[in-house]
Amino acid sequence: MKSQENFILAIESSCDDTSAAVLCNDKVLSNVVATQHIHEQYGGVVPELASRAHQQNIVPVVHQALAKANIDKKHLSAIAFTRGPGLMGSLLVGTSFAKSLALGLGIPLIEVNHMQAHILAHFIKDENQTSPSFPFLAMTLSGGHTQIVQVNANFDMEILGQTLDDAVGEAFDKSAKLLGLPYPGGPLIDKYAQEGNPKAFPFPKPKVDGLNFSFSGLKTSILYFVQKKVRENPRFIEENLNDICASIQFTILEILMDKLKLAVKQTGIKQITIGGGVAANSGIRARLKEAENSLGWKTYTPKFEYCTDNAAMIGIVGYLKFLEKDFAAQNIAAKARYTL
Ligand code: KG4
Ligand code: ZN
Repeated sequence: MKSQENFILAIESSCDDTSAAVLCNDKVLSNVVATQHIHEQYGGVVPELASRAHQQNIVPVVHQALAKANIDKKHLSAIAFTRGPGLMGSLLVGTSFAKSLALGLGIPLIEVNHMQAHILAHFIKDENQTSPSFPFLAMTLSGGHTQIVQVNANFDMEILGQTLDDAVGEAFDKSAKLLGLPYPGGPLIDKYAQEGNPKAFPFPKPKVDGLNFSFSGLKTSILYFVQKKVRENPRFIEENLNDICASIQFTILEILMDKLKLAVKQTGIKQITIGGGVAANSGIRARLKEAENSLGWKTYTPKFEYCTDNAAMIGIVGYLKFLEKDFAAQNIAAKARYTL
């Protein structure tokens, strides 16, 4: 082990993924994610069940992360954990575990804001990933968040806009549920959309000032549209699934791209990063590539495993804070609402 090698164990438990990662400086040695499938039968995350599953998963997941990284816990330099935002019962599991282990090993504890982590995931050193330079605009798109953030430096971020109601991933998942698709429906809408006509069924775009978003109206208009069509033809959904999915996805992408264009216009910043589970969407990736050619943007999408909730992104923030000796005290508490 060289003296400049710092080993950070990171723990993420904010929602329904229990994850642990080991980083050596800014490189990921392991990134283990236990996705909780129990929620699928309920069509959404059940907080109490999530908390219990984290309690079952956390020890084996941390063991696996250490084993995969081939690191003994006595060589760890610090422990980073997600303090928030997220579900309180879920956050408490990771927070308590991280605090106890740091205390037991006598090493520093580092608290991490999950939203910062989605953004700073772009700085994980990986041969297949290039990092943006400052300043850049970061769009975080997931089942829990929808934000456009101006990033001036690692820990100098300003939220320019965010959703006033549902997150974009919820818009995908709730629309999918209306079509009878299983949870989480986002990837299925993406799949069917690729075979459909995006202009088949026009849905209205919400009128929201500035850089904020709203997705709850879209869900309602899809609901009324589907109900009306099914009354006319009970087989409407199955006969038109590809076109419906393509139209829903097209509307969501138009909403996102309109706001991004406005953010670029307002700030003059043309470097764009995306993160969060919805960044896996093939449509948004294609639209960003298009914008590179037509609008002169430079866009960055991290590897998929660093887009969805994962501990590697918590680890990179842990490492950056470790360099600044920005450590947390043992009496630190989890924070369900934790802004950037
Ligand atoms: O980041 P993530 O794993 O967890 C949260 O923090 O929410 O994001 C999950 C969300 C779900 O809403 C899921 O439907 C959506 O990401 N998602 C997608 C795709 N893959 C995942 N949405 C649209 N297209 C996809 N390909
Ligand atoms: Zn997240």
